[in-house]
Amino acid sequence: SAAEKGGWSSFMLKEITEEPDAVANTLRERIHEGDVKVPELEALGDEVLREVDRIIVVAAGTAAYAGQVGTYAIESWARVPVDVQLAHEFRYRDPIVGPNTLVVSISQSGETMDTLMAVKYARELGARTISICNTQGATIPRESDAALYTHAGPEVAVASTKAFVAQITALYLLGLQLARVKGTLDEAARRELVEELVAVPEKIRFATGEHERIAELAHWMGTASAVLFLGRHVGYPIALEGALKLKELAYIHAEGFAAGELKHGPIALIEPGLPVFVLVPSPRHSEEMHRKVISNIQEIRARGARVIAVAEQADAAVLPFADEVIALPLAGKFFEPLIAVVPLQIFAMELATAKGLDVDQPRNLAKSVTVE
Ligand code: G6P
Repeated sequence: SAAEKGGWSSFMLKEITEEPDAVANTLRERIHEGDVKVPELEALGDEVLREVDRIIVVAAGTAAYAGQVGTYAIESWARVPVDVQLAHEFRYRDPIVGPNTLVVSISQSGETMDTLMAVKYARELGARTISICNTQGATIPRESDAALYTHAGPEVAVASTKAFVAQITALYLLGLQLARVKGTLDEAARRELVEELVAVPEKIRFATGEHERIAELAHWMGTASAVLFLGRHVGYPIALEGALKLKELAYIHAEGFAAGELKHGPIALIEPGLPVFVLVPSPRHSEEMHRKVISNIQEIRARGARVIAVAEQADAAVLPFADEVIALPLAGKFFEPLIAVVPLQIFAMELATAKGLDVDQPRNLAKSVTVE
């Protein structure tokens, strides 16, 4: 109802606006004097975390993309191999799970049947299980050894937005806690990362400041029949999520690719006028990756496609080649995705709105899929 939306035109707009709080609230009481200290993980026992030698994330939809973002940071910080397996694939692939395998499920609702069944199966195989969940007391956290709740607040719009950034935040807390227990990051390094994490909400707020421009962009793209998204490293799962949002909300054929794959196939799709979003990693983090993505942009532009670069505001290198630039505030390597996803969510929402669609209740979708 209009009253529940509290004056917002849609739950989706309300929930996108709540993203800074979703991150801040998920951090609350899990950071102590500038260092990570997660009570829910401490309850599992340091010994248990220290011995973890493999992490498997099980999830579906947007939650699985949050998991994919998390793999880069957790591997880099805690030096534990992490992979994401779609919950509905996990059981049928004869997964390699031992007593030191940690299975981390991610689910906004905590009721997705595929994810629940994957968690139960992991427990049968002897794994430890942690649930990252946004709904207090839901079935999946109850079936897990530990629950690391995201505190994004109730998410009503069917397509997930604020839960996504909260899920990445929770995964980063897990990665930092593991790094602390395993001694793979010293205190100074952890403090620096914690500082970055704490600064994310303000940076998301900055990104939402581009709303009007993104809305204009969405309006002239209302007739596009396909949109591509390219990203590298942590930008890759964000490209996948940007494409998913556009499919879900605007019913437009959209695909996300790893930028490095461009010449291995997707470049054949590039044609004049095709909108292509490119997530540009900061040159401050990797000059090499930056240069490679800029060269992708040139290849796309040379074939007449329209490039919308999502890049940090100080990145002048993109300007000559991009048709549009969505500027992001400066952020650490692993923190860019938490910010870069927001303009893509806004874009999908605005494009759907321009097409006269219901952004809160897209056709054929359910908020929580409780059947297999
Ligand atoms: C449904 C929703 C998606 C969501 C997915 C996983 O398909 O429409 O937005 O990402 O389920 O839901 P969960 O509650 O497990 O995160």
